[in-house]
Amino acid sequence: MILASTAAELPARPGQGRRAIVMTMGALHEGHLALVRRARELAEQVVVTVFVNPLQFNDPADLERYPRTLDADLALLEPLGVDVVFAPAVEEMYPGGEPVVTVSAGQIGHVLEGAHRPGHFDGMLTVVLKLLQLTQPDVALFGAKDAQQVIAVRTMVRDLSVPVEIVAVDTVREADGLALSSRNVHLSEQERREALALSRALLAASDAARNGDPARTVVETGRAVLEEAASASALIEVDYLEAMDPQSAQPVPDDYRGEAVIAVAAKVGATRLIDNVTVTIGEEER
Ligand code: PAJ
Repeated sequence: MILASTAAELPARPGQGRRAIVMTMGALHEGHLALVRRARELAEQVVVTVFVNPLQFNDPADLERYPRTLDADLALLEPLGVDVVFAPAVEEMYPGGEPVVTVSAGQIGHVLEGAHRPGHFDGMLTVVLKLLQLTQPDVALFGAKDAQQVIAVRTMVRDLSVPVEIVAVDTVREADGLALSSRNVHLSEQERREALALSRALLAASDAARNGDPARTVVETGRAVLEEAASASALIEVDYLEAMDPQSAQPVPDDYRGEAVIAVAAKVGATRLIDNVTVTIGEEER
């Protein structure tokens, strides 16, 4: 496994076969590793990037306390047969300081996660495009855990004609439903328990969808579970629970029918968590 910290150290693409990339901010867990395993199946050469991108953090405190565990990350990646780890310093990625020209997520950047984290999706897309340019992969893998991120990346690739295939991988969860996240290490035991309100709310919403309930009821059912947990606990602060269009990331109208992503975000103590589930609304279960 080659560890490259500068673009110049990146090895050439394989003469034959495909190159896959898994982009991460490190503090790797089984969610990231699921992407790496899938990448291993899809390509002859697997590149994993580890870079905590300052551009996508709207909250300086969040950036500061984001876990950085490169040695442990390398130890997890080596046995999976990863060929290259690219772990650049901030100065390597942004030698002139903040970039002058950046990517805009457009309307995707202004709703849901974007509304709560101004500039986040622009900063994320800017680094994703840079990493794609530097590594020139055939395929890039992203986790469904960050549903709006996948939509933003797919839209950028389409609108800017970026020559890469995007593959989304299902969310990896703990046995009790909690979605794996690098930020989970910040949760106390009690917060960890209360964080289950997010996946519980999504479960209630998907049950309602399976029931054939309309979009509005699906969303209200999920919100009710979350609000109840929040009113019983001083630790939970709800940001949103919304049904979004899987193509545009915009909230769906009350009479929407078809596939939707129920997305949720809440603060549990000082840690902000997100999760989502894909449902079909307005159709009888087949
Ligand atoms: P990070 O949060 O480290 O996530 C890296 C990749 O792992 C993302 O595609 C994310 O969706 C995926 N992932 C995280 N938790 C997961 C889980 N429980 N199940 C499945 N996949 C999961 O997302 C980012 O970093 C950054 O925005 C990045 C794309 C690297 C750009 O800086």
